Amino acid sequence: MTATFTHGDPAFVTIGDLDEVLPGTARAVVVGNNAVAIFRVGGGFLALDDGCLHCGTSLASGWLCSGHVICPQCHWRYELTSGRVEGVPGLHADAFEVRVAGSVVELCTVPKPFPQNAR
Ligand code: FES
Repeated sequence: MTATFTHGDPAFVTIGDLDEVLPGTARAVVVGNNAVAIFRVGGGFLALDDGCLHCGTSLASGWLCSGHVICPQCHWRYELTSGRVEGVPGLHADAFEVRVAGSVVELCTVPKPFPQNAR
């Protein structure tokens, strides 16, 4: 998937058509110099920095399980909504808002604030 800037909110980029990411799957998209993993789960979309914080493996190639993605390299487990890494206090991947506009998917390029209750 490739990103193009939208004409509305400058923080959002169009990352592709809705049907490019099937329910229960993920895709990596490059936005500027960053790779972001887009997950289609629970009737919507969630997004995290694609590079695992351990050794950089693509989280888009990980396993989806109960609101988490498990890195395929050595199994760090990330909460999809917040980016929190289970079992590693204080560590989290940046999480991003994703929205659907008609038949296209748009990604906010500004990370969401990390929720205080997710620590
Ligand atoms: S590279 Fe992801 S857990 Fe090691």
